[in-house]
Amino acid sequence: MLNFLKRTKVSKKTAVGADFSRSDILSGTMPSHVAIIMDGNGRWANKRALPRIAGHHEGMKVVRKITKLASELGLDALTLYAFSTENWKRPKIEVDFLMKLPEEFLATYLPELIQENVRVRVMGDKDKLPGHTLTAVDRAIRETSGNTGLILNFALNYGSRTEIIEAVKKIADDAKNQKLHIEQIDESLLSDYLMTNELQDPDLLIRTSGEIRLSNFMLWQLAYTELWFTEVLWPDFKEEDFLQAIADFQQRGRRFGGV
Ligand code: FPP
Repeated sequence: MLNFLKRTKVSKKTAVGADFSRSDILSGTMPSHVAIIMDGNGRWANKRALPRIAGHHEGMKVVRKITKLASELGLDALTLYAFSTENWKRPKIEVDFLMKLPEEFLATYLPELIQENVRVRVMGDKDKLPGHTLTAVDRAIRETSGNTGLILNFALNYGSRTEIIEAVKKIADDAKNQKLHIEQIDESLLSDYLMTNELQDPDLLIRTSGEIRLSNFMLWQLAYTELWFTEVLWPDFKEEDFLQAIADFQQRGRRFGGV
């Protein structure tokens, strides 16, 4: 446990100008749930005159590293935006590759995830995934279902507006069938109908590659989340960057609308 943290000295200036060390991070308030928009794979590949899929493949290795660190740090959940409902618009060769990545990731790292007590979970419209992708993720979900450590939540064919619309439709249906009364509809009930139902809202959102937008990701759940952006492209994202994001998170004053 915490091998990486023991090995690595992290001492940098944070965005708010305070020094931090790894022991500061561990003794500070840890985020329970971190969500990441893993962006910049294509640009990473372009810079090296490689095909875009090479960037995605490198990005997959970063997924493994950051999952391991999140698990070692004792986070409850890590949500990763792996494929959006809009990503189908990409060239077929790229879409096909992205649909094979979960399979490759799980074929390579599932034993390690099981050993680390990680539970795999997927949110998104699974019905539209190719059979081979679905088989791989369903197997990982099944084989890790008893694990009690980090929840590794892949957003796969996920779009937040669709998620909210589907939740509203189910609520309307349940109201029509008198399974619930309109007066019962509140924030907590709507949250229960979303694809994140069992998860707390993220405390921290990270987006790599210098883009500063949410791109239809967890629009409801991010209402009070601390946002952290970096120029670093996802395939270049290191454990130190993740720790930096957490250190900066720990410097923020979260008031949830209070004073
Ligand atoms: C955005 O970068 C990234 C994606 C659409 C895919 C993200 C997928 C991974 C990082 C690998 C996922 C791994 C597993 C295990 C499922 P982009 O292609 O839009 O980059 P660009 O903006 O530089 O073109």
